[in-house]
Amino acid sequence: MSALEARAVSKLYRTHDIEVLAVDSLTLTVEPGEFVALIGPSGSGKTTMLALLAGLLLPDAGEVVIGGRSLSSLGKAGLAAFRLEQIGFTFQAHNLVPYLTVRENVELMLRLNGRLDRQGRARAIELLTQLGLEHRLNNLPSELSGGQQQRVAIARALVHEPRIVLADEPTASLDSERAHQVAGILAQLIHAQGRAGIMVTHDPRMCIYADRIVRLEDGRVTRVLTTREEIAVFAQIG
Ligand SMILES: Nc1ncnc2c1ncn2[C@@H]1O[C@H](COP(=O)(O)OP(=O)(O)O)[C@@H](O)[C@H]1O
Ligand SMILES: [Mg+2]
Repeated sequence: MSALEARAVSKLYRTHDIEVLAVDSLTLTVEPGEFVALIGPSGSGKTTMLALLAGLLLPDAGEVVIGGRSLSSLGKAGLAAFRLEQIGFTFQAHNLVPYLTVRENVELMLRLNGRLDRQGRARAIELLTQLGLEHRLNNLPSELSGGQQQRVAIARALVHEPRIVLADEPTASLDSERAHQVAGILAQLIHAQGRAGIMVTHDPRMCIYADRIVRLEDGRVTRVLTTREEIAVFAQIG
């Protein structure tokens, strides 16, 4: 069974008199242990697609199926619980809780899932250490750089061991070395733990960590690269 399936999903935004078909009958399947890079120009529907996959938005047509369950069949409360347990999401704006420390922000996902035990706490610290934040555990988000905050958000997206990891430009505010590290860690955890991951990125170099590159334009898939060779060439020259 695929980890994640979008079946001909569409999303139409209506604002005042303007309508934007942000995602246009898009079909995408991700297998357990597979890491997909989602690329495309600004406004091509990447963030909307992630929000649909995460069940944060419901599609106007089509359906999203995770682990064999259609998100539209879950109901509002069911969807909230399912999302909390099964999905790790990092947003473009990382949305850390300002009055919680780094460690508490990451542990929050465990607390919400009722899994804040000794193992969970240890996993939070291990992830933060892997992401180079071991000296920042007790700082508040406001005491960190943008790149450090983004890494906290990544730890938070992974700590509850979700089946699906969705990351919207997770390396955008990182320097090149740190960006490689973060994308590499994401790929490694997704591969090693059999999760399904999608990373939106503007940086072709980050696509080297992906098993597949999917390009969106105007809410549609316009290009898919799947071989190691194609991916390596794309990551070098964009
Ligand atoms: N909440 C919204 N209301 C109206 N239009 C939106 C909204 N969010 C995004 N859009 C529009 O939908 C299209 C896709 O946006 P988005 O998914 O954010 O693209 P990307 O992440 O690829 O830059 C754009 O034309 C954008 O202006
Ligand atoms: Mg976006």
